[in-house]
Amino acid sequence: MTKAESGRMHAYYEAKGLSPTFGNLRTPEELDRHVAMRERIFIDKLNVVPQLFAGARALEFGPDTGENALVFARWGATVDLVEPNRQVWPQIEAYFRHFGLADRLGTLDDSSIQQFRPSQTYDVAVAEGFIQTVQPSSTWIGTVAHAIAPGGMLILFYYERASFLVELFHRAAHRRFGHLVGGAGLDSARRLYEAKWNTIPHVRRFESWVMDVLDNPYSSIRYTLDASQLVAELADAGFRFYQSWPRYRDELRMGWHKAMETTGAVVAEIRRQLPRLAVAHATGRSLFAYGPDREVADLGARIDRLLTGLEAAADEKGEPWPEIADGFAALGRAVGDPALLYAPDDATRTEARASLDALAALSRLLAGGEAAAIAAFASTDAAFLRTWGQPAHYAVFRRLPDAPGGTT
Ligand SMILES: C[S@@+](CC[C@H](N)C(=O)[O-])C[C@H]1O[C@@H](n2cnc3c(N)ncnc32)[C@H](O)[C@@H]1O
Repeated sequence: MTKAESGRMHAYYEAKGLSPTFGNLRTPEELDRHVAMRERIFIDKLNVVPQLFAGARALEFGPDTGENALVFARWGATVDLVEPNRQVWPQIEAYFRHFGLADRLGTLDDSSIQQFRPSQTYDVAVAEGFIQTVQPSSTWIGTVAHAIAPGGMLILFYYERASFLVELFHRAAHRRFGHLVGGAGLDSARRLYEAKWNTIPHVRRFESWVMDVLDNPYSSIRYTLDASQLVAELADAGFRFYQSWPRYRDELRMGWHKAMETTGAVVAEIRRQLPRLAVAHATGRSLFAYGPDREVADLGARIDRLLTGLEAAADEKGEPWPEIADGFAALGRAVGDPALLYAPDDATRTEARASLDALAALSRLLAGGEAAAIAAFASTDAAFLRTWGQPAHYAVFRRLPDAPGGTT
């Protein structure tokens, strides 16, 4: 399969015969480490305590081989799983048996999220790593609105549009480099990115990153979600924003603690706040655009033009690299200007600027077409090696107690 088709990314994984997230957990200590890592995400980043899962009915969409589902079971939930790629089911079942959690594994269902019709409601539902590929969002929002009990929680992990800048760059550069060296594949990816990959702590194999990000036809801005639209659409469906990573709300807001904010007011606040964070999300650095709306919109438009250029480059359309190089250089200059963006310290601003300058320099080399120079830069430039952006976001919602649509 080479073409992306909404809601069918599982077919891409099936065709590749590779599990994108398989961590091959073997010993109780390995599972303990994974549980501890998930605890840190849930408690520190999402303000969700594991006790939420104790005795809960949990539903996970797209669990892949089920490492995260094991954690929910360890925290005391009974988990029903909706995973259309049946190839991974034996691994899920083996994991639950191996770790003595078989009695916490409920049903396995091979529907896609958009087709799934729950026969009960759940205290918590989780969908990590794929909902941006199910478009329009209303198709999966309909499912979760039926599946989650009033007061229940929805936990999402997805690719966000502006935040996707560096990941899309990785894919576009991979295509261009592949074109120059006789085909984009695992070998060309190694020449370009193996050194970078080895600078970060990772559990997944390089091959699965190549399959899941660089070669994946769903690595496209068509398959990302705009965070403020997501918050608004879920509000319309009866879900109130609870918490996110990175943060979406205005953390400096003030007000009398007893004054109740309506869900609409929270949506409006996030809609004002997020455009001011677009550069932060795109670069993965703490930056805040504090100028007038016009300036903020201008910064957003710069990111949008870069995304459009990179999308064309990833599709090998036209000659977009010179313009992409100019776009990164201009964004770098904007980041260097304290009148446009707040940074908590000089180091943050310098680091963000260095990232954008490195992306500009590599784009220029990609435009020039000298494979050896491109590979050398990508493998050794310190700023490029540190540049990963903030591609994926967590967002947590609470189903309003009086929301319509549940099945029980
Ligand atoms: C990138 S993996 C993420 C696995 C796991 N949730 C995690 O975050 O570690 C995406 C998973 O979603 C599944 N998936 C893809 N499209 C889906 C859909 N429309 N409905 C349900 N699951 C889907 C895939 O088969 C795969 O197991």
